[in-house]
Amino acid sequence: MTSPDVPRPEAPGPESVLHPRLPSPVQEVTDDRFARHGVRLLLKRDDLIHPDLIGNKWRKLAPNLRAAAGRPLLTFGGAYSNHLRATAAAGRLLGLETVGVVRGQELADRPLNPSLARCAADGMRLCFVDRSLYRRKAEPEALAGILRAADAEGAYVVPEGGSNALAVRGCRVLGEELRGRADVIAVACGTGGTLAGLAAGLAPGQRALGIPVLKGDFLTADTAALQTRAFGARRGRWTLDTRFHFGGYARVPAELQDFAQDFESRHDLPVERLYVAKLLYGLVALTAEGAFPRGTTLAAVITGRPF
Ligand SMILES: Cc1ncc(COP(=O)(O)O)c(C=O)c1O
Repeated sequence: MTSPDVPRPEAPGPESVLHPRLPSPVQEVTDDRFARHGVRLLLKRDDLIHPDLIGNKWRKLAPNLRAAAGRPLLTFGGAYSNHLRATAAAGRLLGLETVGVVRGQELADRPLNPSLARCAADGMRLCFVDRSLYRRKAEPEALAGILRAADAEGAYVVPEGGSNALAVRGCRVLGEELRGRADVIAVACGTGGTLAGLAAGLAPGQRALGIPVLKGDFLTADTAALQTRAFGARRGRWTLDTRFHFGGYARVPAELQDFAQDFESRHDLPVERLYVAKLLYGLVALTAEGAFPRGTTLAAVITGRPF
């Protein structure tokens, strides 16, 4: 029996088990739509960090996996959530129990879609909750009810999209890796957690640009709030351009689909449609508008890969 006074050896961290490729590679691409405006385009290939914990998922989950210290992990997402899939994969790879709380009670009676089927195959226990309860999941009483119903009261809870203070601090390293590499660093935004961390890690003189994929004007306040929770105050220079959501989350009209296919064939880059395509489209449009002075080096963070 281990005496309580004897410190237990630390469990191996996710890094030592999962071997992430860090810092992620930076790749320059030649694209006339940027070159003719005197703009250099770099791709920060966070999609190559890990085959299952892709892009910002690694940066957000790794510190939470450490903090969970072996407890079951419970988190939230929609039916096609990249974050749920990454959490389930982390559970399989690290031997952790995972519980996914899925938005939409009605989905419980239907066959699992490919994304949720992957979660289940990775051992994630799925709990479907109705949309009004799901909206209230951050309220302590609603959360306690969800944990009880999921029989997961001792679980380590990660919020939707994985964006808590630890995750935002994890994303700061992304900014640190890009110090001295670019003038403007652009990233697609859902919750704003990746942008919040990225901006905090950049050097003075660099700035971050967020392209929200959801419709609405809430993200400036949300990103500032995430920075305050993670660092005590707003950090770094960052702005949002809210014009490139294409109608809202998961909307991929034909024009965006065509753009993404064309970018893939030009640059041999698999373009994730819900976030990365909107980012790259926005950067081409902003460059055409003259938003970046000649001589600007622009880095686009490739936060995901098509599923
Ligand atoms: C591929 C991809 N890119 C970007 C984001 C946006 O990250 P955040 O929620 O930190 O803004 C997500 C979020 O899930 C994502 O899956």
